[in-house]
Amino acid sequence: SSYRASGFETNDLVETMKKTGKKAIVFYGSQTGTAEDYALKFAKEFQSKFKISTMTADLADVSFENLQNIRDEIPDFKLAAFFMATYGEGEPTDNAVEFFDYLDNECEELPDLKYVCFGLGNSTYEFYNAIGKKTVEKLNSKGATLIGQLGLGDDGKGSMDEDYMEWKDSLFDLIKDQLHLEEQAVEYEPSIAVVENDELTTSSPSVSLGEPNSHYFNPKTEDEVKLLETGPFDHTHPYLAPIQNTRELFNSETRHCIHAEFDLSNTNLKYSTGDHVAIWPSNSNEKVEKFLAILGLTGKKDKVIDLKSLDPTTHLPFPTPTTYDTVLRHYLEISGPVSRQFVKSVSQFCPDKETEEKIPALANDKEVFHKSVTEKYLNIADCLELLSSGAIWNTIPFSFIIESIAKLQPRYYSISSSSSMEKQTIHVTAVVEQEKPKTSDHYVTGVATNLLLDIKKHQNKETTKLIDNFDLEGPRGKFHYKLPIHIRRSTFKLPSNPATPIILVGPGTGAAPFRGFLREKIKQVENGANIGEILFFFGCRKSTEDFIYKEEWVEYAKKLDNKFKMITAFSRETEKKVYVQDKLLENGAKVIELLDKGAFFYVCGDAANMARGVQLALVKAYQEQKKVPEDIATTMGKQLRVNNRYQEDVW
Ligand code: 2AM
Repeated sequence: SSYRASGFETNDLVETMKKTGKKAIVFYGSQTGTAEDYALKFAKEFQSKFKISTMTADLADVSFENLQNIRDEIPDFKLAAFFMATYGEGEPTDNAVEFFDYLDNECEELPDLKYVCFGLGNSTYEFYNAIGKKTVEKLNSKGATLIGQLGLGDDGKGSMDEDYMEWKDSLFDLIKDQLHLEEQAVEYEPSIAVVENDELTTSSPSVSLGEPNSHYFNPKTEDEVKLLETGPFDHTHPYLAPIQNTRELFNSETRHCIHAEFDLSNTNLKYSTGDHVAIWPSNSNEKVEKFLAILGLTGKKDKVIDLKSLDPTTHLPFPTPTTYDTVLRHYLEISGPVSRQFVKSVSQFCPDKETEEKIPALANDKEVFHKSVTEKYLNIADCLELLSSGAIWNTIPFSFIIESIAKLQPRYYSISSSSSMEKQTIHVTAVVEQEKPKTSDHYVTGVATNLLLDIKKHQNKETTKLIDNFDLEGPRGKFHYKLPIHIRRSTFKLPSNPATPIILVGPGTGAAPFRGFLREKIKQVENGANIGEILFFFGCRKSTEDFIYKEEWVEYAKKLDNKFKMITAFSRETEKKVYVQDKLLENGAKVIELLDKGAFFYVCGDAANMARGVQLALVKAYQEQKKVPEDIATTMGKQLRVNNRYQEDVW
């Protein structure tokens, strides 16, 4: 589509590879950009290690029919790699759907294809790395040859980086043997040239300062300008939405939860109750300044730079010309965790001998690295500071920074409004992440949630000292109380029949989508529908501290006749912790009665512990109420899922 800024002139894979002399290809099936980041990293290392010209491609951007005859067309074709994320309930990412269609229906045989595959998944979900596994199964069934093992990256254990490194390191040896390759000393070869521009300044309109969309879409005709205003908006093309009515939902000195409303009245952007909204954050002044300082770029932060792609098959990750400050503020994940791979590869640019000598002890030992970097929650700037003990890293080429650091990704939230009640507003309910882990001296701060907190404080003219502060004016004043957003459709939906009873389990901000559901139910009542019973299990620490929307639930109960019942679990009011799953079991008779009447069961919130706890409690409730053994109760629980009556929105 016209929104995709693909570097290809054509989607013909073979033609592109021939034209550009590529001998290997790295595909990615990516939803939020993580698989894409790993694919780029892999391609770069493979290329420089074996001196094989390698391209990367979004699975949605190329024709796969070419895979079948790629060896005929490119006799010295070496390798295909697949970086495949699993999404939702074991589904492929949007950009990989067609690829599986092709494998299922059109692809005949792939006997000549040698490939490697790395899956990105989350072991707290039931269908762990289903798509990585499916890729291997399908390709092998067509006669393709997998080199090594399928790599299993696990976001659930937070070990994605280490999983990747372990897979990749052993794989490179195998690839070398099986493809008869020579290994070369790895030297950094930039794929992007960064050149300072003395003609332009930040006041030149052509210089991008981080405004959304200019990268994807440079409007030239009137139609294109119109599209920019009216959409469609998607994950490559956000809408800059005004934020209103921000308020605090907690009653606490130290913890915050923000309610914010995004105004859609000037756009045709639509959502439906239960969907997610993606917020595109930018980094805080403090984080950007620290990063600029460690790179020795403080004095040059607003210097204009031109970026040029040195490889015709890769497009630039963000618009050019731009500035150092813009790149760090809007496009790179500078406060994320540091990978051991990054420390290894940055060692070639050490500012002095002393630093260089210090690196191996840290980078080559998983345990040491974990203790001194990961557990301490150091970000890249902290880590560089630690390594060089004061020396400035003005020795790192800026292109290396751009290529090695993950792209800043949008953050997803369950929408807490109802599209029937508020057609032109999206409500968001977000706990502000400001943790000081036991093992660290640093605060770990969530980038989007702290930005929302800052906006709330400014909008409400509060004078409290800020932990983090952001550039709220934004480039050219355009971000003033606005943030770029897009909608992600979800399958977390109310039953189509209003009379169907529902059971909602949502502790903490897990209550967010249920607030939307309840507002939707009120609308149904207003429209004269006869609604089914609603049982809502909510949990928080204390009824006086983090009981979000406390007054609203009471209002909802009034408007929902006698159909709504809320059951609360306060975990820190009594000596023994009480959780939603305890309350669920306590009310097992009612829960099972509603399920027998056809109720839908919804869970929202923490995936790792809560969602599992709730699932087990439900099995127990079946056991107790139906007087059946555990295995039968488990089957009953499973059957709900099969019938789409057990739905989860967990993270
Ligand atoms: P806690 O922090 O006191 O342990 C919202 O975060 C609520 O969810 C809090 O009351 C929190 O309790 C609770 N919670 C924490 N772990 C949970 C789990 N495994 N299952 C259910 N609720 C949990």
